[in-house]
Amino acid sequence: MATWSNFNLQNSASPLMEQIIFFHDHTLIILIMITILISYLMINLFFNKYINRFLLEGQMIELIWTIIPTITLIFIALPSLRLLYLLDELNNPLITLKSIGHQWYWSYEYSDFNNVEFDSYMIQYDKSNLNNFRLLDVDNRIILPMNNQIRIMVTAADVIHSWTIPSLGVKIDANPGRLNQTNLFINRPGIFFGQCSEICGANHSFMPILIESISIKNFINWINNYS
Ligand code: CUA
Repeated sequence: MATWSNFNLQNSASPLMEQIIFFHDHTLIILIMITILISYLMINLFFNKYINRFLLEGQMIELIWTIIPTITLIFIALPSLRLLYLLDELNNPLITLKSIGHQWYWSYEYSDFNNVEFDSYMIQYDKSNLNNFRLLDVDNRIILPMNNQIRIMVTAADVIHSWTIPSLGVKIDANPGRLNQTNLFINRPGIFFGQCSEICGANHSFMPILIESISIKNFINWINNYS
């Protein structure tokens, strides 16, 4: 989870988030190279004394400063497209979780099982309890098995919300009257926090998402004992 002064991406808990981080770093390196080059050129412009009174055109330099940025953009576009299609790929999911956005809470349905559905409300922060996460904790957590493909179906009941979990690389809008699909694969046990990221009204900030990732054995146990 994000803690104080963490300005970077959170640690990944899924292969897709790992790819997103790689792409972010790759693009940032290119951005740094461009910034350094442009800064160097601009600083030079301030201090040189070259004057070209009769300069009208420079075919060669224009060719160069058109082609080089084009190639640079291709180096960003191709990995970006790869990532885009990779994020959408879902094969043979073990279970499907349906999450519905409401003003202002999420509700979940495990459609593969009978009557496993619940609302998930933010709970009051309790200073004395060290296992309590301010503005991020909910009364009913999503329980999911790790190391398995999971399909997420997202929709909303009133206004647009957004189901977002940074450490899993999932961010998808919840639209009323539409059903969106995404997928996740959690590669370690733990609890993973998310928040709504569509400005959806007065209590937008107070509809957290909390996934508890456990082993498949414990998951079966949980779903069997669900009442
Ligand atoms: Cu729901 Cu913001």
